[in-house]
Amino acid sequence: MNKYKDWDKKDLIEHIKILEKKKKFGLTWEHKNDEGPVLFCKENLIVLEEDIKKRIVSKKSNNFNLFIEGDNYYSLAALNYSFEKKIDFIYIDPPYNTGGDWKYTNDYINRDDPYIHTKWLSFMYERLRLAKDLLKDDGIICVTIDNHEAPRLWLLLDEMFGSNNFLGEVIIRNNPASRNVDGKIALTHEFAFFYGKSLKSKIAKLPVHPKDKTHKYLQDPNGIWYAPTNLRKTGVDNFGVKKDGSIHHRHYPIYVDPKTKEISTSKKFKIVIYPVNEDGEKVIWRRAKEDIEEMYKKEEIWYNKTSFGDQIYYKFYGGTDGESPKSIWIEPEFSASEHGTPSLNNVLGKKSSFPFPKSPFAVERCVEIGCPNKDGIVLDFFAGSGTTAHAVMNLNLKKQKNLKFIVCTNNENSIADEDTYPRIRNVIKGGYEDRKGNKVEGYDTNLNYYKISSIKKTNTDQDKIKLSKRLDEMIMMKENTYNVVLEEKNYKIFNLEDKYTIIIYNVAVFDKVKEKLKKINGKIKIYIFSLSNENFNEEFEEFPNIITESFPGTLLSMYKRLFINL
Ligand SMILES: C[S@@+](CC[C@H](N)C(=O)[O-])C[C@H]1O[C@@H](n2cnc3c(N)ncnc32)[C@H](O)[C@@H]1O
Repeated sequence: MNKYKDWDKKDLIEHIKILEKKKKFGLTWEHKNDEGPVLFCKENLIVLEEDIKKRIVSKKSNNFNLFIEGDNYYSLAALNYSFEKKIDFIYIDPPYNTGGDWKYTNDYINRDDPYIHTKWLSFMYERLRLAKDLLKDDGIICVTIDNHEAPRLWLLLDEMFGSNNFLGEVIIRNNPASRNVDGKIALTHEFAFFYGKSLKSKIAKLPVHPKDKTHKYLQDPNGIWYAPTNLRKTGVDNFGVKKDGSIHHRHYPIYVDPKTKEISTSKKFKIVIYPVNEDGEKVIWRRAKEDIEEMYKKEEIWYNKTSFGDQIYYKFYGGTDGESPKSIWIEPEFSASEHGTPSLNNVLGKKSSFPFPKSPFAVERCVEIGCPNKDGIVLDFFAGSGTTAHAVMNLNLKKQKNLKFIVCTNNENSIADEDTYPRIRNVIKGGYEDRKGNKVEGYDTNLNYYKISSIKKTNTDQDKIKLSKRLDEMIMMKENTYNVVLEEKNYKIFNLEDKYTIIIYNVAVFDKVKEKLKKINGKIKIYIFSLSNENFNEEFEEFPNIITESFPGTLLSMYKRLFINL
């Protein structure tokens, strides 16, 4: 309170007004902006540099996956240039903040730090802020956490993504043996929170095998699964009462021949059955009167005498196209203690010192329900030992998908060098043994490895000139064209399949580039260096379907928007 002792009355009243306006519901914490990377980005421009020695090239695949080494605040900053609104699914498993498991301003946060929650929330907020813009409009984020930070993280996600976009939480039994703390409940689970970017984001249904359904499914002569089901409707709308109070027309009699069991809706047989429930109340059938005889011809409906009297049954052909994932996952394959470390050690062919890798099956399931498309990009910016990359490759193989991954990790305790990169390399190359001693085949894909670099910001044309020479990688990423076709002093050409990207550093080469353009057959985008953000589109008018964009103006405005007003 000492800080107010010299304030005059007018200032104090103004200050009280501001305090009264402050929100009183939700998460409030003293947001700190003093973290190293946050301060660094105010003064410097982040760029990426490829470590070409770590590139993994496949013979067949045109899929390029990306690995970015460095603090993820920088990685996310750089990704904003190339991947804004392009990511389908983000899976992250941040440090759980249980003491000593992450660094804030270069120091490990100690369990007794009075600001332990505040610092963690600020750290998470800053990264989620940058990550949110990367998600497509129908994209989804999944964040795993244990009960230590779960309450605060849940509120933070609610605020950042909106409570309307909350898609559900899953309890994953990740440690069946439990973490025993005297006098407390022994913890066997953690949470996975799912949020959408907008109301367009939807969790995918999981395929169901009819044999696993709770009620009995049978196969018809064509092999199609059906559930024998009473034709009498049960459940909420079984009375079929319409809004005006009249009864739905599906309350009609069905006639059955006692000898042949033939079924008809014409009054020609002795047995008459109405849809009536156990209490003798009028209900409705599940099918319209016009359908019944056709169903009988196709052997899809039959008569049954049960202890409840005369009944009509039919073949219900629905319910097998998938069901919403349930909120508790207790299957042993999801356990990190049973599958995390053993899976990592198998792929590495040695004992890893990384303490908490997730089960690849648990991550696979999260990706499966959060990223239903066949093609798509999955991002993990707390990649740790690379479980997400492994899970994406497994899922692609199992479900014939074509998902790409971007993983970001720092190299703390040499994790990138000793775990993440070797794991991804070995999964791609194959040849290691699984837990049963079988040799595992490789997975055909590419990996590009980048490191963080930067340029001191001076707000002059010099920034633009310096930047222009260091943006190749980020432009290649932005356009998904990673093959070098031609490298000249003042222009470069990259491609992938029928897509071409041309970077022009000096307008003096326009004529040379035009000559090249005549020989290129494909979609072309040209990036042209310009101090004034001029895109020179008239220059290339004679070539239809060519898009031109100036650089590095867009990147500079983006960094200004992301970092100046913090
Ligand atoms: C809980 S682990 C993730 C484990 C991962 N899901 C797995 O299965 O291996 C969190 C990881 O985030 C890394 N990390 C912490 N702070 C980071 C930061 N600012 N930038 C990048 N990585 C960071 C830690 O080094 C650690 O490897």
